[in-house]
Amino acid sequence: MILRRLPGTDLDLSTVGFGCWAAGKTWWGDDVDDELSVDAMHAALDQGINWFDTAPLYGHGHADEVLARALIGRRDRVIIATKVGVRWDAEGHHPESVLTDQSLRDDLESSLRRLRTDHIDLLQVHWPCQHGTPLAQTLTTLHALRDEGKVRWLGLCNYNAVGLGAAALAGEVHSLQTPYSLLRREFESELRPVTATRGPGGGPLGVLAYEPLCRGLLTGKYGPRQRFADSDLRARDDRFQGDRYLRALTIVSRLSLLARRIHVPVAALALAWALRQPGISAVIAGAKRAGQVAENARAMALAEDEAQPWAEVDRIVAAHRG
Ligand SMILES: NC(=O)c1ccc[n+]([C@@H]2O[C@H](COP(=O)([O-])OP(=O)(O)OC[C@H]3O[C@@H](n4cnc5c(N)ncnc54)[C@H](OP(=O)(O)O)[C@@H]3O)[C@@H](O)[C@H]2O)c1
Repeated sequence: MILRRLPGTDLDLSTVGFGCWAAGKTWWGDDVDDELSVDAMHAALDQGINWFDTAPLYGHGHADEVLARALIGRRDRVIIATKVGVRWDAEGHHPESVLTDQSLRDDLESSLRRLRTDHIDLLQVHWPCQHGTPLAQTLTTLHALRDEGKVRWLGLCNYNAVGLGAAALAGEVHSLQTPYSLLRREFESELRPVTATRGPGGGPLGVLAYEPLCRGLLTGKYGPRQRFADSDLRARDDRFQGDRYLRALTIVSRLSLLARRIHVPVAALALAWALRQPGISAVIAGAKRAGQVAENARAMALAEDEAQPWAEVDRIVAAHRG
């Protein structure tokens, strides 16, 4: 197991975490199956992955229920990260961020019930508020929940540099979830300079990279004629369409050749690359199957291997990103 401490906390996270979004069974196509999701979660534990990232929004609670099933008898061995603050309409559509005291408390209680646990290890605000609640007020509620013993540590997701810069964060939150992968790099120019000093004592804020496989694109299995089911969010994702998609496929095919040469799955290469970038604490890799987890978990050891051709990975991406 390869662990990194989230700065300022006692959470030692495996460098690869398991993302539970697809296990929610909505927006990820028609091939998600609860039994296979549970198998994938067990495979994660077997491969040294010790934390799971979920959210009420993932299948409107379904991902939590599947995770709770997978963790029966094993809760004490794992770190659960979840989120609060998203509301949706009666049909489950139009999610939006609501961060009032009551909605945060309701979300947490529902999560504890679904996850069959009495505490959350890392509770994260899912999105910045769309209804004007200042972050300082949200943090007051979250601190009260922490003082009540229901939450151990606090984090944010999807805050930009302005949002992070405006908040008095020192020691208040310990992590930020943000998108980051070989193909999506805004973090480097916009956020990294801010996260470097917004953590406890003016040190770094822990950064948890989501979509590190660019929703599966960096696994090398998708080709130019790929069509996603209407129930799959990738059917409407620009990154899987037009010239942008074709450029990404060129990068992935070059990376796949390199990965084959060094005998690793290209997914592991992409995750390991992200883990080696300054400011990144861990990556959250989504998976539907045990076999996918086994590949992804290899990134943990690979990222430690200085002898691999990391500069070549950078050159391939730089040459074709456009
Ligand atoms: N805080 C936020 O707002 C936020 C937003 C997005 C995500 N997240 C978190 O980050 C996690 C990861 O992001 P993500 O799931 O969106 O994207 P991702 O990790 O980049 O991609 C996950 C998908 O890639 C495919 N895949 C994974 N490993 C594979 C392998 N080794 N070989 C082949 N295919 C593989 C699977 O889908 P297919 O088999 O269908 O291709 C899987 O569902 C989420 O689960 C969630 O926990 C958080």
